[in-house]
Amino acid sequence: MLKLISREKSFIKGYKEYCQEFYDNNILTFRPTNPQNIDENWFERTAEWYAKKEQGMVSGYAKSFHYWAVDNDKFIGEFQIRPDLDDDLMADIGSIGYSVRITEWGKGYGKEILKQGLEIARGLGLEKVLLNINDDNIVSIHICEINGGVIMDKVMLESNNEGKHLVRRYWITLNKS
Ligand SMILES: CC(C)(COP(=O)(O)OP(=O)(O)OC[C@H]1O[C@@H](n2cnc3c(N)ncnc32)[C@H](O)[C@@H]1OP(=O)(O)O)[C@@H](O)C(=O)NCCC(=O)NCCS
Repeated sequence: MLKLISREKSFIKGYKEYCQEFYDNNILTFRPTNPQNIDENWFERTAEWYAKKEQGMVSGYAKSFHYWAVDNDKFIGEFQIRPDLDDDLMADIGSIGYSVRITEWGKGYGKEILKQGLEIARGLGLEKVLLNINDDNIVSIHICEINGGVIMDKVMLESNNEGKHLVRRYWITLNKS
């Protein structure tokens, strides 16, 4: 059963494999941590940085909560929620990021990660979240729409990895529980 959990030391090996798969396949639309940086001290070395990021205290980064998606002892993917949506986030990466390791694509994990992630967002008291999805990412567009995403517009964005690219911006309204 898929669960979203806080970063946990026992899953570092799986996390590194997940990162490696994205690098090996040269996926530019989503870049996780460079697997070369994940050595035996990586978890401790980065703990403070992640803790500060959750408090919005890392310069140049939005406040962000990170989760790892695991299925029993298998590392599956990631979910991130940025609760303080502002103009910069709206014109860039939006409220949410999520991903599934390539060897586990097409098994329903992406859909489940977003579903569970939206519950986390609701638990944070958010009323709506913005997902910015590349116009050619048909799987994520589908997942977003079945989770209630309503398109606001399409905008041209620019990033170092991808250059200029067309992005769909979707709102998902979260019902109060
Ligand atoms: C997008 C991503 C998370 C999808 O994860 P996934 O686990 O492969 O997705 P799922 O297996 O849950 O598939 C979800 C839906 O897409 C459909 N789908 C899967 N592959 C598809 C394809 N190639 N074409 C059309 N639909 C497809 C599935 O049938 C399923 O729909 P259904 O439940 O209505 O049948 C994954 O590809 C990924 O990590 N990509 C890189 C990071 C990324 O793009 N993140 C999203 C940023 S906005």
